[in-house]
Amino acid sequence: MEKIVIATGNKHKVEEYKAFFEDAEVLSLKDIGFTADIEETGETFFDNAFIKAKAVSDFLAEFGDDAAVIADDSGLCIEALDGEPGVRSARYASDHNKELNRKAVLEKMKGKKNRKAYFICVLVKLYPNGEYISAEGRTYGTILTKVAKNADQAFAYDSIFKSDDLGKPFSESTIEEKNSVSHRIRAMKRLLEIEEEMKSI
Ligand code: IMP
Repeated sequence: MEKIVIATGNKHKVEEYKAFFEDAEVLSLKDIGFTADIEETGETFFDNAFIKAKAVSDFLAEFGDDAAVIADDSGLCIEALDGEPGVRSARYASDHNKELNRKAVLEKMKGKKNRKAYFICVLVKLYPNGEYISAEGRTYGTILTKVAKNADQAFAYDSIFKSDDLGKPFSESTIEEKNSVSHRIRAMKRLLEIEEEMKSI
């Protein structure tokens, strides 16, 4: 059975990956005893995902562990703001303060007619021999003019993003609904497709 370490401290993400890669042994950073903070200093989603994957892969190599590592980086890109908040989504106005970050976006979007936006997720799977594959997933929608319901319980920008696929804000959708169209799930599906394509070469 393939062993995959997910390079994230987010418990919910690890559960998502476990459910998706059901044929693999999926481990978290906690499972492997990785406690260091990884600084996301990249200028692109790919750079940040790669930085995270490499840090964890180097850690595993020290113990001769031959697990593959999957890392992701994601964010919200808004057409009228030239792709902002983009790679800075988590720290747009204030580090991991979803209320202030949402407020900053709504403020900058005041009066803008073009409200098109998408969430993007870039995945990197780094193998123990140093080779890697990368996949991207997107989900499209529009930025609302005010915060929707369930903002307190919802993840970051979910309460200001109305999904084109679901016809409602992500914060007013069930987890199953969101997972059926999410950028992360689409990136995971693409990653599996790429792996299958590689096997057939
Ligand atoms: P990371 O990939 O976990 O570093 O996520 C970066 C940031 O992008 C998060 O902190 C959120 O601000 C934003 N983000 C990524 N995916 C979502 C989503 O599905 N809903 C709302 N915000 C998201």
